[in-house]
Amino acid sequence: MKIKGCFTAAISFCMLVLLFCGCGRQQSEVPEKIQVGVACYNQSDVFLGELVSCLKQQFEELEDSGIEITVMVRDAAGSQRTQDDQVRELIDMNCNVLCVNLVDRADPSEIIDLARDNDVPIIFFNREPVAEDMMQWEKLYYVGAKAQQSGEMQGELAADAVAGDAQTDRNRDGKIQYVVLEGEPGHQDAIIRTESAVDTLKSKGVALEKLGSGIANWDRAQAQNRMQQLLSQYPNQIEMVLANNDAMALGAIDAYKKLNYTEAALPVFFGIDGTEAGLEAVIEGKVAATVYNDKEGQAQAIGNLAVAAVTGRGMDEMAFENEKYIYLPYQKVTEENVREFLY
Ligand code: GAL
Ligand code: CA
Repeated sequence: MKIKGCFTAAISFCMLVLLFCGCGRQQSEVPEKIQVGVACYNQSDVFLGELVSCLKQQFEELEDSGIEITVMVRDAAGSQRTQDDQVRELIDMNCNVLCVNLVDRADPSEIIDLARDNDVPIIFFNREPVAEDMMQWEKLYYVGAKAQQSGEMQGELAADAVAGDAQTDRNRDGKIQYVVLEGEPGHQDAIIRTESAVDTLKSKGVALEKLGSGIANWDRAQAQNRMQQLLSQYPNQIEMVLANNDAMALGAIDAYKKLNYTEAALPVFFGIDGTEAGLEAVIEGKVAATVYNDKEGQAQAIGNLAVAAVTGRGMDEMAFENEKYIYLPYQKVTEENVREFLY
C-alpha cells in the first residue's frame, strides 16, 4: 500500500513536471500558422492593384515552400474610417501579422493602437507613414521605394530625350515648355517626384518653362480631364508632359487623342511605375520612358518580413535601413530595355 502510494505520488509529480514543461514550451513556442491581413487604400489604383496581385502570388510561393499561410485582403476604397474598421475585423479574425497600405498616411494612430493592444506586427507598404508614427512601437515596419530616386531617374530620362532629339523643342526657342501631372497631395511620391525630376532636368542644363500643372490623384481619367484643361489654355504649346505615374501619362495621351491631335503634334510623355499598360506604351513608343517601381521586389520583401515577424526567424537577413525600413531600388525603362520588365 505504502509503496503503491509512493508510486502514485511519484507519477503525479512526473505528470506535473511534464505539464509545466509542456506549458512553458507552449508559451514560448511561436505560431507556425501565418494569418496575414492585407489592408489596401484603393484597389482600383492601377499600380496598387498590380502590387497586391504580386503580394498574393508571393504568399502562394511561400506556402508552396511549406509554410502554412492564409491571406485576407480588404479594400478601403479611399476611406480611412473603413480601413480602421477593416483592420479591427482582421485582428478579430486572428490575423497575426498585418500588411497595411494606409489611406491617409498621416493618420495611422488608430491602426497602430489596435495592433499594439493585440501584439500584431504591422508592415506598412507603398504609402509611408511619417517618421514619428513609425516610432510609436517597435513592431512597425515599412516596405517601399524612395520617391526622390524615381524623380531623379525620370529627370535623367527626360534630359536624355531632349539631348537625343532636337525636335523635342518644337518651337525652337531653346526651352522646353512643360506641364506636370501630379499624384495625390500629401503622398510622399507626388511632390518629391515632381521636384526631383525638374531639378534633375535643370542640373543637366535643360532650359525649362513651366506652363502649368494639374493634380490627378494617380488616376488616368482625372489626368485626361486635367490635360484637356491644360490643352485648352496652351494649345500646341506643350512640349513635354512629366507625369508622377504611368496611369496619368496615359490619361494625358488620351486627352490628345480625344482632341484629335495628330501624332506629329504630340509632346514627349514620361511616366513612373512600369505598369502593364505603361510598359506597353513604352513598347509602342507612346510614352518616351518610365521608371520601374519594383512591385515584385516589394512583394517579396513584404512576404519574407511577414513570415519573419510572426516566426521570429529570418529577421537578421532583412535589408533594413534604420531598423525598420526596406526600400527597393527603381530602374529606368526605355524602349531599349523595356522587354526585360515584362513578366
Ligand atoms: C505610387 C505609385 C502610384 C500609386 C501610389 C499609390 O508609388 O507610383 O501609381 O499607385 O503609389 O499609393
Ligand atoms: Ca520650346
